[in-house]
Amino acid sequence: MEQVHGWVRAARRIAVLTGAGMSAESGVPTFRDAQTGLWSKFDPMQLATEEAFRANPQMVWGWYAFRREMIAKVDPNAGHRALAAFAQRHPGRTTLITQNVDGLHQRAGATHALALHGNIFEDKWLDTPKACCNKEAAAAGSPPYCDQCGNMLRPDVVWFGEPLPLRTLAAAQEAAQACDLMLVVGTSGVVYPAAGLARMAAGKVVIVNTEPTELDEAADAVLRGTAAQLLPQLLED
Ligand code: APR
Repeated sequence: MEQVHGWVRAARRIAVLTGAGMSAESGVPTFRDAQTGLWSKFDPMQLATEEAFRANPQMVWGWYAFRREMIAKVDPNAGHRALAAFAQRHPGRTTLITQNVDGLHQRAGATHALALHGNIFEDKWLDTPKACCNKEAAAAGSPPYCDQCGNMLRPDVVWFGEPLPLRTLAAAQEAAQACDLMLVVGTSGVVYPAAGLARMAAGKVVIVNTEPTELDEAADAVLRGTAAQLLPQLLED
């Protein structure tokens, strides 16, 4: 811990990559934790693909509505707050890259988070919108739709098999290649290209996680503990 704290102090450019474990202490379930993870209860191929949405839009929309409601009830934790505060104290020194769609980093005050997998509170049209497709005037429904052409709104998140937003991914890769330290917090490191950022990091890689991850072998240090407990200590000036 002391050694890593020294690395944080000495680092000019810090990239931070976060995953669902970052929000676990806020009360947002992770995806792959054996008992509590969403994917231990729900089939991701039935809920987080475009095919699944086209096959059963009502069920998928309902599931995202349930997650939106749950996330809206929780608050950022001490880990989110420590990252946002560090970035405010040290402008230009950190790049925050998140796989999370919950918006908790942003609610904690992070102003330039690179959200690789989108934002669960945003919607977009399923098919390329026509002149008639107006989000504000979408007909009510689960999901809301265009009453002219039937186009449907879907959550603006990255589903399995979909590409990441290009500019966001490019900015994240640039930050990884320019960093002298990368903190990898609360991710199992099994989903690419996000996990690949830790493998392309130019600087030292530090894992913060309660469990072993796929990325541990690529790390310079592994800190076994929670995001809300360890980040405030690590980011203390
Ligand atoms: N603090 C730190 N780490 C934690 C905590 C905590 N309080 N609680 C759980 N973890 C760790 C788990 O041990 C696990 O390694 O967080 C990790 C969560 O892993 P996943 O559930 O696989 O989530 P993530 O890595 O973000 O998933 C990547 O997969 O399902 C898709 O698009 C979704 O963005 C997501 C992507």
